[in-house]
Amino acid sequence: MSALGTKTHDLYAVMGNPISHSKSPQIHRAFAEQTEQAIDYCAICVAAGGFEDALRQFRARGGKGINVTLPFKQDASRLAGEVSEGVRRAGAANTLWFDSKDTIHAENTDGIGLVQDIVVNHQRSLRGQHILLLGAGGAARGVMAPLLAEEPAGICLVNRTDAKGEELARLFGDLGEIRHLGYERLAGNRFDLIINATSASLQGGLPPLPAGLLAPGACCYDMMYGAEATPFVRWARNQGAAQALDGLGMLVEQAGASFYLWRGVRPDTHAVITKLRKPAA
Ligand code: ATR
Repeated sequence: MSALGTKTHDLYAVMGNPISHSKSPQIHRAFAEQTEQAIDYCAICVAAGGFEDALRQFRARGGKGINVTLPFKQDASRLAGEVSEGVRRAGAANTLWFDSKDTIHAENTDGIGLVQDIVVNHQRSLRGQHILLLGAGGAARGVMAPLLAEEPAGICLVNRTDAKGEELARLFGDLGEIRHLGYERLAGNRFDLIINATSASLQGGLPPLPAGLLAPGACCYDMMYGAEATPFVRWARNQGAAQALDGLGMLVEQAGASFYLWRGVRPDTHAVITKLRKPAA
């Protein structure tokens, strides 16, 4: 408390481009209110090539930490002095914080958020599950290590561009059973969980998936979300998936994990997911 009885607020932000659509300020302000943490959280749109400068300016203003979204997650990992094992492998970070010695620390909470949403919120263990992961870009990279840590039977990677799928399988191959297939070889395989980590939904598209991929009781998870069901969630429903989930829960859970790293307090993510799901009055 200051002499005037008002708390000084620690400053956090999300940086990306575009950023106006980001729900992160709303989510972190809700966490702060719940947990009575004195923080300010804003969204900063950073020009291409401007991430390092923006980070320097933010630190000069006394900023304590940031979330990082597209297209700067790789820059964030490169600029950090202390990176987690997950960040080192993925080459991408979504959470930075600065200590008293001015070291930049980096973590990637995307995969932590995905696993938390599936395993805890949707009560679905990944142990022994046959997982199909669609895509091999940044989104897929960020979730590989946390998924493999849950000890699934294996992850089958499928990507339009073979070389990227093969590289991902090589990068994480020591952490578990991974195989890489092209879309044309998917038919006839069955999976317990299919995760869409492609950016196809952004253009209203869908990866070229054959019918009949779902094992009985299978779950489909789209890392994207929107006000309407995504094309992948609609596909999953049509295929008879037992659960067809979008990525809103993952978004809130990755934010919750960042908040915990920064503040040492666990927010009630459930309450925030429920609030965001409610249609605007
Ligand atoms: P992100 O960081 O969001 O993962 P990215 O690195 O550009 O973005 O990767 C996008 C991923 O979505 C890639 O795996 C891409 O496949 P390619 O590597 O073959 O380009 C995949 N993707 C995008 N649109 C797709 C579509 N319509 N069908 C299938 N895969 C698609």
